[in-house]
Amino acid sequence: MEPQLHTLTITFMLIMFILPIAEPQSVLNIPDITQARVLDDIIQEYAYHVFDNPNNPKTGVVYDGIAPKNLTGIRISGLRLRTGSLFTRGVPMYKEFRIPIGVVVQPYVERLVLVYQNLGNRSNGYYPLPGYMYLAPVLGLLAYNGTDLSVKSRTELDLQASDEPIQIEFGSVKPAPGGSGSNPMCVWVDLHGQVNFTNVVDGNRCLAFKQGHFSIVVKDIVKRDKHGGIDSRVWAIVVYVVGGCVLLVMLAVLVVLIRGCKKRKTTRKMERAAEGGEPLHMTMIGGVKAPAAMVTRTQPTLETEYVP
Ligand SMILES: *[C@@H]1O[C@H](CO)[C@@H](O)[C@H](O)[C@H]1NC(C)=O
Ligand SMILES: *[C@@H]1O[C@H](CO)[C@@H](O)[C@H](O)[C@H]1NC(C)=O
Ligand SMILES: *[C@@H]1O[C@H](CO)[C@@H](O)[C@H](O)[C@H]1NC(C)=O
Ligand SMILES: *[C@@H]1O[C@H](CO)[C@@H](O)[C@H](O)[C@H]1NC(C)=O
Repeated sequence: MEPQLHTLTITFMLIMFILPIAEPQSVLNIPDITQARVLDDIIQEYAYHVFDNPNNPKTGVVYDGIAPKNLTGIRISGLRLRTGSLFTRGVPMYKEFRIPIGVVVQPYVERLVLVYQNLGNRSNGYYPLPGYMYLAPVLGLLAYNGTDLSVKSRTELDLQASDEPIQIEFGSVKPAPGGSGSNPMCVWVDLHGQVNFTNVVDGNRCLAFKQGHFSIVVKDIVKRDKHGGIDSRVWAIVVYVVGGCVLLVMLAVLVVLIRGCKKRKTTRKMERAAEGGEPLHMTMIGGVKAPAAMVTRTQPTLETEYVP
């Protein structure tokens, strides 16, 4: 084979074999996080409505909000705190969340509002995780500037636990379908849609150090059974390898055909040259020595005008 074709083939093979191995190491992200972020803004708006009630401005008290009609099934709460109190006392119980002492927010604000979300039956709609199944609703905990409740633009705050993690105790975790095989895992989706998995603690608790959305998931067994129980990743590799082999064979056939064609052309030229009795000028064409004529020896004439 010619050197260029060698290089081409090797590059091709490398691509074919590296692709399926490199792919599963990529970071898992929620496909469309903007939609979920728009929902965060809507929920924040509705959570702040609880403080419109003149009887509700107390700090340290959890108030339940009412979701808009087009978002029924979602539960909303708001809790207003002094930042100093959050740090020194934490929040022993805020719905499913237990916030330890030592939590700090950035940038610094005097008071903050912790917005709670329970996405209920809309969890999978806003946080689709291909290949996984939710065993609990997606719960959100987000922090906003709560210094002045009448201000409409509220900075989203970065919340960070220091020594002790925030605990999330899921009330009812569905049993994993199929039972054995894959274990339930805690999932945390940060505000950029990046997904992180951690172990479940005591069957229904997850630990976290930052704000975001949390749930318990299990690998989706139903999807894997479509291919006879084999992981789809294995199938991807099989498809790549078989596809690569087929393409290689096709490439090889193509090379053989091209070389055969060139040889025939060369032979014909050589024969013609031999008949003319003229010495051949040799030149390199694509790494193959081939005869070449420097000047046109006979002017081309139409066959009908040709008289021997
Ligand atoms: C629900 O309706 C409000 C207006 O009442 C709209 O702003 C919002 O985008 C809608 N949300 C969804 C998810 O359709
Ligand atoms: C979720 O449940 C509510 C009732 O609680 C229903 O109105 C809504 O249509 C459901 N949404 C989805 C996406 O299933
Ligand atoms: C928080 O809100 C108060 C009152 O509106 C404002 O003065 C302050 O600059 C805000 N802080 C941040 C970090 O957004
Ligand atoms: C998310 O998980 C990855 C891999 O397990 C880890 O390297 C990364 O630090 C995690 N991110 C955070 C913010 O904890």
